[in-house]
Amino acid sequence: MTRPETPAQACPEPAAAPAGAGAEPPGARAGAGAEPPGARAGAGAEPPGTGAGEPRELRRRYTAADLDVFTREEASRFVPQGDGDPQDDMALAWELLYRLEPDLYDRLASAERLHPGVVSWLPRHVDQIAEVGAGTGRLTMELIGRGRRIVAVEPALPLRRILRRKLAAADHGDRVQVIHGFFDRLPLPDDSADLVVACSAFTPSPAHGGESGLAEMERVCRPGGCVAIIWPNHLDWLATRGYRYVSFPGPMSVEFGSVHEAVELAGIFYPGAAGEIRRRGSRKVPFELIGINPPRDLAFRVLAG
Ligand SMILES: C[S@@+](CC[C@H](N)C(=O)[O-])C[C@H]1O[C@@H](n2cnc3c(N)ncnc32)[C@H](O)[C@@H]1O
Repeated sequence: MTRPETPAQACPEPAAAPAGAGAEPPGARAGAGAEPPGARAGAGAEPPGTGAGEPRELRRRYTAADLDVFTREEASRFVPQGDGDPQDDMALAWELLYRLEPDLYDRLASAERLHPGVVSWLPRHVDQIAEVGAGTGRLTMELIGRGRRIVAVEPALPLRRILRRKLAAADHGDRVQVIHGFFDRLPLPDDSADLVVACSAFTPSPAHGGESGLAEMERVCRPGGCVAIIWPNHLDWLATRGYRYVSFPGPMSVEFGSVHEAVELAGIFYPGAAGEIRRRGSRKVPFELIGINPPRDLAFRVLAG
């Protein structure tokens, strides 16, 4: 298989995906059209892919009093009317999780690993990579060998701290710059990156990307470069904006560090499956069991050169 070796070809075409990878655009396979197979009901409010069907336990963890944790900039995006309630609004509950219990979020994201095909599909040996909504680095750590310079944009301070700690521990503090920013106002120059990517972060909702966020990612991407949305939820929305789709097959499981952790985190994030996870007594939890689409796919667009 041919891999792009120069910034001139920043994204492999679907035909160059690894053997067995689905390379069809949205709509070409059963189930495509609205959400990836297994996506949660109501996906779009909450970050794509993360967590189970309807993690009520997560909503119950926080109340409107916790909204004080948001900075002004955050509040203007996540509670524009100033009066949100995380008990009714799952997207808000996720945002509070990132700020109030970032280590808990990191334990979940570390267990929900990306399909290796997704990572190896991304271009290698490019000069500049920009990642938006980098979180605690599930994707960022994988990008390190692929670009000379990586900028990881992340609005939540507690997640940036964890990511910086991980990078320093891996001795990669100098290759990756971790900065504050939002999809709709990326603090990056025009045409500055060969790859602009978001993983489990972009949705069509204005608070988590939307039209202006996609326009910003494309502004930052150089002509001929690639914008990639990993673990997308809204394939139709992206397809109508020129994004093509790649999916990688094979069984996938959430891989917790221990059975104890699987049971504990299932109680919060996959309550509907928690009983069965306890009964099975395995640290590995198949994605089918929790009823969400696994992180095995991406939507991408190569910008006109
Ligand atoms: C589910 S997490 C995914 C984090 C990381 N990309 C990963 O895959 O583990 C969603 C991330 O999007 C970030 N995010 C939420 N709203 C955002 C916005 N408007 N602009 C940029 N990032 C945002 C959150 O702070 C969080 O880090």
